[in-house]
Amino acid sequence: MAHLTLGIESSCDETAAAVLEDGCRIRSSVIASQDALHAPYGGIVPELASRRHVEAIWPVVQEALARAGVTLADLDGIAATAGPGLIGSLLVGLSFGKALAFALNIPLVGVNHLEGHLYAALLDHENLRFPFTGLVASGGHTHLYSATASGEYRLLGRTKDDAAGEAFDKVAKFLGLGYPGGPLIEERARKGDPDSIRFPRSMPQRGSYDFSFSGLKTAVVNYVKGMVGAGLALPKLGAASSATTPQSSALDPALVADICASFQEAVVEVLARVTVAAAKASAAPRRIVLAGGVACNGRLRVKLTQLAADEGIEVYYPTPSLCTDNAAMIAAAGYPRLVRGERVPLSFNADADLALGLT
Ligand code: KG4
Ligand code: ZN
Repeated sequence: MAHLTLGIESSCDETAAAVLEDGCRIRSSVIASQDALHAPYGGIVPELASRRHVEAIWPVVQEALARAGVTLADLDGIAATAGPGLIGSLLVGLSFGKALAFALNIPLVGVNHLEGHLYAALLDHENLRFPFTGLVASGGHTHLYSATASGEYRLLGRTKDDAAGEAFDKVAKFLGLGYPGGPLIEERARKGDPDSIRFPRSMPQRGSYDFSFSGLKTAVVNYVKGMVGAGLALPKLGAASSATTPQSSALDPALVADICASFQEAVVEVLARVTVAAAKASAAPRRIVLAGGVACNGRLRVKLTQLAADEGIEVYYPTPSLCTDNAAMIAAAGYPRLVRGERVPLSFNADADLALGLT
């Protein structure tokens, strides 16, 4: 008999549920995005997020069951995200999972969201095996891991300030492009020249794999302010030259495209170089897993694959719908623990700062 795992994810601004068969076949994956709710603020408003999760969780779970063609009674176990994330958001999915597990008398495990992101690649690539070097680059995290086996992770490096996705979101907000910033910047970047502006690349010191993106973000802001001040940023019939938070509609679209392409290139180069250096230093076989929302970025995929190929390293990344937050990856990460007989008690709590593995 197949094992059916219900995955539940609500750590940030997506309410998601998925049904996974035997930990590897996605029977359904439903994601209710809150992007439109938070877009006017250029970032996530935690209180709004948790309220929307409360409204969405049951319909989303019902939809996941319906699309999988199963009922609650068919489920064998539940895997819910336990952290890290926004505590109010996490509590909605985890509490819902606990209530369901109790009512159905089936086991529940709490899953680390970052492990979920890494498992998205395993879910998508049947031939992918541990060990690997895993980069999780998302709106909240830029964490580089040595993943030796299921459940065994060592943190190699992390961002000291902004996460990579956060840098995309903040630059997009500053340029008045909208939220989430990553896809919007990537779209503009396609029409721009990545070599037109040389933004700084903050590379870690030898032996460290830590990242830093806040200096790059500031460099973009200063560059735009300088161009606006010099009267070089606006189209011919442009508005005031003293704008500090420009609207994309007021800036020369060709300049916006060049800024986006040059900014994206700087982020991509740092992420790719540091990740390949870490994989090179690891014991064979050398494999890289690229995961998290920023792994959707086409330029990052190409650059990382090229740099890694030069070193004989293979790169795996999930299909875009599995890169951003989803519950299939949570069910995949929880499945091996469910079949090992693990379960958490009803007193188990969410942890906004839950760490993954050893540091
Ligand atoms: O993994 P995710 O859905 O949520 C978190 O756990 O944070 O990642 C969302 C992040 C956002 O910051 C978004 O701007 C970024 O991933 N992102 C991208 C792209 N698509 C999403 N960043 C760069 N390029 C993209 N194409
Ligand atoms: Zn995530």
